[in-house]
Amino acid sequence: MPSAPIAAVLFDAYGTLFDVYSVGLAAEQLFPGRGEALGLLWRDKQIEYTRLVTSADDGAHYEPFWVLTRAALRHSCRRLGLALGAAQEAQLMNQYRALSAFPEDREVLQVLRARGIATGILSNGEPEMLGVAVRSAGLDGLFDHILSTDAVRRYKPHPATYALGPQATGVEPRRTLFVSGNGWDALGATWFGYRTLWVNRAGQPYEDIGPPPTRTGNSLRDVLSHLN
Ligand code: LAC
Repeated sequence: MPSAPIAAVLFDAYGTLFDVYSVGLAAEQLFPGRGEALGLLWRDKQIEYTRLVTSADDGAHYEPFWVLTRAALRHSCRRLGLALGAAQEAQLMNQYRALSAFPEDREVLQVLRARGIATGILSNGEPEMLGVAVRSAGLDGLFDHILSTDAVRRYKPHPATYALGPQATGVEPRRTLFVSGNGWDALGATWFGYRTLWVNRAGQPYEDIGPPPTRTGNSLRDVLSHLN
């Protein structure tokens, strides 16, 4: 059976549209030899905290992504025995606020819009954080929808978060391509019923549970070859 053409493309933000590499570089400058370990632990702890507050007491302990990101940074530094002063913390958090876009983002978004395909972000970041990220990466005006899971006070992969996509676009999940650089997010979106593209820039193995993504690629450009 031929698949229905894609009418909307939704993107994850961190690591998908925005390059978090600069955060690792800043961490390495502050803590020579420990930047990579800090970057990895920080990201893992950040996501762990999102799951913790989503699953405990059905979201009653919700905190915004920015708050959890800061808490994860503090915890990771304590775990690694790194002295994080107020100035270092501000530097790393500011780095996280204003990330670069991946070089191909703009062109891909422009092509989608020229073809009449709706574009959107669906991210754990709260609206203020996403607004700053989009502006500082120079991507303003290229999204029809900027959707934050903050609207449902849950984090991905809770189904209420993925449901924000069709609610905003009016496009059903099987005609929506959900694009993520995070394997677990591609899996959550696949479970939800989206068509999915996992952008595996780093050549990582996929998750070992659940169905595979509809497609796998290595840059955002792969979106353009998966619209049918
Ligand atoms: C986001 C994280 C998961 O933007 O990358 O939602």
